[in-house]
Amino acid sequence: MQDVSPHQSEQASLQPERQLELQIERIVAGGLGLGHEESGRIVLVEGALPGDRVLVEITESSKRMARGQVRAVLESAAGRREAPCKEVAAGCGGCDLQHAEEALQLRLKAEIVTDALRRISGLEGVPISFAGELPATQYRTTLRCGVEGPTATSAASTGSEQRGRVGFRKRHSHQIHQISSCMVAHPLIDELIQQCRFVGTREVTFRVGARTAQRMAIVDAQAATGERFGLPEDVHVVTQQALAQGEQAWIYEQVAGKQFRISARSFFQARPDGAEALIQAVARAVTPFDAASDRLVDLYGGVGLFTAGLNAQRSVLVERSESSLADARVNLLDLGTKIVASSVETWRPSAADVVVADPARAGLNTAGVAAVVATGAERVALVSCDPAALGRDLGLLVAAGFEVLGIEIVDMFPQTHHIETVSTLRRVRTSAVGR
Ligand SMILES: C[S@@+](CC[C@H](N)C(=O)[O-])C[C@H]1O[C@@H](n2cnc3c(N)ncnc32)[C@H](O)[C@@H]1O
Repeated sequence: MQDVSPHQSEQASLQPERQLELQIERIVAGGLGLGHEESGRIVLVEGALPGDRVLVEITESSKRMARGQVRAVLESAAGRREAPCKEVAAGCGGCDLQHAEEALQLRLKAEIVTDALRRISGLEGVPISFAGELPATQYRTTLRCGVEGPTATSAASTGSEQRGRVGFRKRHSHQIHQISSCMVAHPLIDELIQQCRFVGTREVTFRVGARTAQRMAIVDAQAATGERFGLPEDVHVVTQQALAQGEQAWIYEQVAGKQFRISARSFFQARPDGAEALIQAVARAVTPFDAASDRLVDLYGGVGLFTAGLNAQRSVLVERSESSLADARVNLLDLGTKIVASSVETWRPSAADVVVADPARAGLNTAGVAAVVATGAERVALVSCDPAALGRDLGLLVAAGFEVLGIEIVDMFPQTHHIETVSTLRRVRTSAVGR
């Protein structure tokens, strides 16, 4: 195997190692397979599974690390399969773990979490479990798609059957792979993907209520007002531009026996059955929870999913998105929740018995952890969608006086590397960290 000296010219250093054979040892965050060259250099490979022996095309290279893509599988890992979706087989990059059987996908997700905890915070031995099984297909009720070709004119150069079809980015590319159907889209969305053509727009976000059958399509500002793209009458069409100018558009969804108003710009979990599984995992994490007497602080509270799901009657919700706040005021009216329009970082903490924190991908980080700590809560549920941020945040929380009792993986996104977790934390000592 070719060793690459940093003193060689870029051309010379890249050419000889464009392809190499590699044994994949384990999986890391982002769903990448990790192997070592003979030189000891780490190579991270898209599309590779632990146990595979693969031919890798190197796409990025530095002295300490390289990245690449699988060009051929020379020996398959146990649990490798042909992608069941014909769109993935044809190059769609929307689901990046379809080449692993579903049982293996779960094991890999647990390995990624274990690896992130150990590597980032030195946390070992935290029990990891799975929170029930969710259907692995037809699940997504919110889906953002691209449309190839920004204008009707350029789209005219493609076949008429293909014009305006939505799609996802091709694997290893920024181009759109047009699809005729999506295996993970809820049928209420897949029907629109199959039937409608979005000529003249570059992006479409579908949002549906699986239990209310309400549907919305949010298109980008290029779309002409009144354009319906062949969408059925029941679908509410709204442009990003109209939303920016203050137009209101929402659907309703039912989760855990409650009705939620969800506006076009508000965050909501990508599937209602997954939202229910998350509520149950959060309830286990903060048990024993007395809905009538425990003071709950719901940080990054969104439209009120966890406050409503826990039926918390003494609650404070902290959220910074105007759209989510407006929905939360409607959704939590009967619970009398105090709704605080603030970023968590600048919020003046109030005392709590229980905190549920569900930050965006970036996680809590120091300021978010300080907010949790400053509530004085004994029981904390941390909902996390990024294993690296999870590893860092749990390390910060442990340093701040908490113990991690366990982590539940809620497999919200089968067929993809995305991982959602609920961590159970208990305060074991009062910490100097606070505000
Ligand atoms: C992952 S979502 C969770 C929402 C809600 N818990 C749910 O499950 O539906 C994160 C939420 O945090 C909000 N957010 C992101 N950064 C924030 C910050 N620094 N302060 C307050 N809210 C924030 C977002 O607007 C979003 O609603």
